[in-house]
Amino acid sequence: LTRGPAEPDLAGRHVVISAGGTREPLDPVRFLGNRSSGKQGYALARTAVARGARVTLVAANTGLPDPAGARVLAVGTAEQLREAVLKAAADADAVVMAAAVADFRPAVYAAGKIKKKDGEEPAPIALVRNPDILAELSAERPRPGQLVVGFAAETDDVLANGRAKLARKGCDLLVVNEVGNGKAFGTDENEGVVLGADGSSTPIPHGPKEALADQVWDLVVARLA
Ligand code: CTP
Ligand code: CA
Repeated sequence: LTRGPAEPDLAGRHVVISAGGTREPLDPVRFLGNRSSGKQGYALARTAVARGARVTLVAANTGLPDPAGARVLAVGTAEQLREAVLKAAADADAVVMAAAVADFRPAVYAAGKIKKKDGEEPAPIALVRNPDILAELSAERPRPGQLVVGFAAETDDVLANGRAKLARKGCDLLVVNEVGNGKAFGTDENEGVVLGADGSSTPIPHGPKEALADQVWDLVVARLA
């Protein structure tokens, strides 16, 4: 897939992108986390800057260099990501949730390091649900006509799971990709299908995460007009 120089078709638009994976602390030295690299979210940020958008990138534990021209807000937990995204979304034309948000966090944060005790089995870790940021954004739409885009990594019944998730979340577009067998996580390539609340289905062939990002922006631009 080849594209010419970027058209400034996002000029005058504010887009908010979340990237990376949240970490939910257990104690001062430990957390529950996930394997999201943040690369797809950063590719979305770079391509949006190239297309003229004002970009806010909410980055959770990525360790990647800040994309030139984007405002980067570093966060750690799902709660922090929620605060930053909802605030930035107030005047956004589009919000893209590429971050892997932890579904659960430890019910209790131990202020001191958890220690093992001789002859005792470890206590189980109780978890509680984190807020669903994508569902909240989709329901609220602080700015009229705002577009909300989600990502879903699925393993089994990829398309059926994607359709059900799109309906459940209430977002406009859901980028669904298959994971497992070395696919997607941590690599520079991606592939998938973008499902639309309007019933549309756009396959994205295997290619650089930048190419997938540009195809997502194409779909966003078409729906913002
Ligand atoms: N997401 C979110 N807040 C959460 C969990 C997920 O905003 N607490 C967003 C992700 O950023 C992503 C989308 O929802 O854009 C789908 O995430 P996914 O984990 O696939 O959805 P879940 O509803 O958590 O479903 P599952 O039980 O399959 O993990
Ligand atoms: Ca989840």
